[in-house]
Amino acid sequence: MASATSLSFRAGAAGASRVTAPAATRRAARKTRAAPTVRAHGPGGGVHLDPNESIAPSRAPKGVAGAAILDRDDGPERERKNVYVETYGCQMNVNDSEVMLSVLKDRGYDETGDMHDADVILVNTCAIRDKAEAKIWQRLAYFKSLRRKKKKSEKPVVGVLGCMAERLKTQLLEADQLADLVAGPDAYRDLPNLIEAVAGTGEKAMNVQLSVEETYADIIPVRKEGAHAAFVTIMRGCDNACAFCIVPYTRGRERSRDPASIEYEVRLLSEQGVKEVTLLGQNVNSYAYQEGETDFLSMLASGEGAVGDAAAGEGQAGAGGDGDGAGVMSAEVAAATAAGGSPFSGYAAGFSSRYAPERRREGAVQFAALLDRVAAIDPEMRVRFTSPHPKDFPDEVLEVIARRPNVCNCLHMPAQSGSTATLERMARGYTREAYLTLIDRVKEIIPGCAITTDIISGFCGETEEDHADTVSLMKAVGYEQAFMFAYSERDGTSAARHQEDDVPEDVKQRRLAEVIDAFRTTAAERQKEEVGRTHLVLVEGPSKKNERELTGKTDSAKWAVFADTPVGIYGGDEDEERTGGEKGVATPRAGEYVAVRVTGCSTGTLFGECLGRTTLTAFNEMHGGAYAEAKGTGAVAAAR
Ligand code: 5AD
Ligand code: SF4
Repeated sequence: MASATSLSFRAGAAGASRVTAPAATRRAARKTRAAPTVRAHGPGGGVHLDPNESIAPSRAPKGVAGAAILDRDDGPERERKNVYVETYGCQMNVNDSEVMLSVLKDRGYDETGDMHDADVILVNTCAIRDKAEAKIWQRLAYFKSLRRKKKKSEKPVVGVLGCMAERLKTQLLEADQLADLVAGPDAYRDLPNLIEAVAGTGEKAMNVQLSVEETYADIIPVRKEGAHAAFVTIMRGCDNACAFCIVPYTRGRERSRDPASIEYEVRLLSEQGVKEVTLLGQNVNSYAYQEGETDFLSMLASGEGAVGDAAAGEGQAGAGGDGDGAGVMSAEVAAATAAGGSPFSGYAAGFSSRYAPERRREGAVQFAALLDRVAAIDPEMRVRFTSPHPKDFPDEVLEVIARRPNVCNCLHMPAQSGSTATLERMARGYTREAYLTLIDRVKEIIPGCAITTDIISGFCGETEEDHADTVSLMKAVGYEQAFMFAYSERDGTSAARHQEDDVPEDVKQRRLAEVIDAFRTTAAERQKEEVGRTHLVLVEGPSKKNERELTGKTDSAKWAVFADTPVGIYGGDEDEERTGGEKGVATPRAGEYVAVRVTGCSTGTLFGECLGRTTLTAFNEMHGGAYAEAKGTGAVAAAR
C-alpha cells in the first residue's frame, strides 16, 4: 500500500493535448499574486465590509479574511454576467461554492437561481461514491440538452468543479462534450480566467493543479443573506489515505489555514449576527498551523491586533474577545498558545497515524488551541466541527469541548467498521477496542455527549463475523446519528489497487440493511429517553410541515419542533435584554435561542413545549450544559 508521504498528485494537466489553459490564464494567476493592491471584498448578501475601515492599511495582515482577493488589471468595466451553481456532496463543497462565488463576484458575475438565465453553469461535484458521480453525469447531460436549444452566442459555459473534476480531468471535457471547463478544488481563483478563455470560443480549459498551500484564507465566502449558521473552512486535504477513500487524491495534501484569518472571519460572522459556525476540514481535528512570518498572532495577544481594533472600532465589545480564555483553557494549552504553538500532545490512546505524528505539529497551533480561541470570540455563538478522524481526539480537545459551553456536545466519530481485522484492511490506524476506549473517554470527559458515526458495509474481505462486530458496535455505542454506506470501489485508491472488492452487491446491501436496523433500534431507545429533558434550541424558522410551528436544532444537532406562540424570557435576569430580540413576551424568531422541554418524539424529531426565549449563557447557567439531565450510561463497557 502506498504510504501517505509517497502519494504523488498529478500537477496541473493543463498542458494535456487538446486541452489548454491559455498562457494568459497563467500570466494572470502570477499577476494576481504579485499585485498587492487590496480591494474590499464583502461577505454574504453583497454587504461589503472594508477591512481598511477598521484595520490600518499598513497593519492589514497578510492572508486575512476580509482583506479581499487581490486586485487584477481587468481593463474597462464590463457588463455583469449571471452564474448558476449546483453543489453536490459534503459541507466542504457547500463552503467551496461560497468561495468560488466570492471570486466570481469580484470579477463581474452575479449568482442566479435560474439556470435558464445563466451565462455560466457550474457544477461543484463529489466523487466519494459511484452513486454520487452517476447523479452528476445525468445532470451534465441535462445541461447539454439546455445548451443545444440555445443560439451559439447564448450558449452558457458549463464547468465541472471539485472532486469529480480532479478525478476525471480530461474525461469530462472529452466525453460527449459535456463540459467546457474543468477546475479542481485548489483552482477556484483561476475560474474567471478559465471562463473567459472558453466563453464563445468553443475551446476547452482546465486547471486541476493541486496545491500544498492553498487555503483561500483571504477570501470571504458569499453566504446566504440573513443566515444564522455558517461554515468556515480551517484546513484542506487529507494525508490519511484510508484504503477505501478517494479524497486524498482529489483534494490533495493536508494544509491548515492561518488561525488569525479564521478568528477574523468568525468575528465578522459574529458581528453579522451569525449564531452557529461549523469549522470544516477533511480531517478537521488534524489542524496544525506553523506560524510563519506573519506576526499577527502576537499582535492579537498584545491586544493591538487588527481583530481587536475591528471590534473596538465598530463598538462590538459584546462579541467577546480573547481575554476570557484563561479560565477555560487547560493550563498547558494556555501556556502553549501564549508561546505561539503547542507541544505535540499525541493521538487518542491506541490510535496511530500513517505519517510521523510530530510532523507539522511540534510548536504548531493545534486543534484544541484553535477551537478554544474560536469559542472565545463570542460565547453566544455555537461552534461545531466536521469531519474529524478519531485519532485526533487527545484529551486536550475533549477538555476544550467540555469546558466551553458554546462548543456543542456532539461529536462525529467515524468508526467505518466495528471489526479490528476490517479496520486494519481499511488502514484506519486503530482497533475496535481502542475506538471503544475513546468512546468511554468521551463519555467520561463530556457526560451525555451525543456521538455520531460513518460506517461502510461490505468492504474488501469483510466476513460475516466482521459484519457482526459492526452490528454489535452500533449497539454498544448507541449513536445519535449514523451515515451508513455500502462499499463502492474507487479507482486509484489503495483498496482498488491492492485488495479485491469481493463482497457481492446483494450481500453488501443485506449487511447495510442490518447495520441500519441496529442503528435504528438503539436510536429509537435513545430518542425515548429524551422525553422530559430540556434543550437549548437555536430557532431556524417555521416548520415545513406546519407553518404554525417552529423548528430549530438542539446542541446535539437534533431537530426540535414546537408551537409558534409568544413566550417570555427563560433564565437569567429578566430585566436584562437576554435574547437580542424583543423584551417580555414575544414569538421566537429565527436566530434566537429558546428552551424547549421535550414532550414526545418520532425517529428523527423531538416535539416539545417552548419554555421561553433565552441565551446560551443564561441557559447554561441554569442547566450546567445542554445535557445536564443526561447521565453517562456505561453501556459501552457493558456491551464490549
Ligand atoms: N465507499 C463507500 N463509502 C465511502 N466513504 C468514503 N469512501 C467510500 C467508499 N469508497 C464514506 C466513509 C466516509 C464518508 C464521508 O463516506 O464512511 O467517512
Ligand atoms: Fe478519506 Fe476521511 Fe480517511 Fe481522509 S480520514 S482518507 S477523508 S476517510
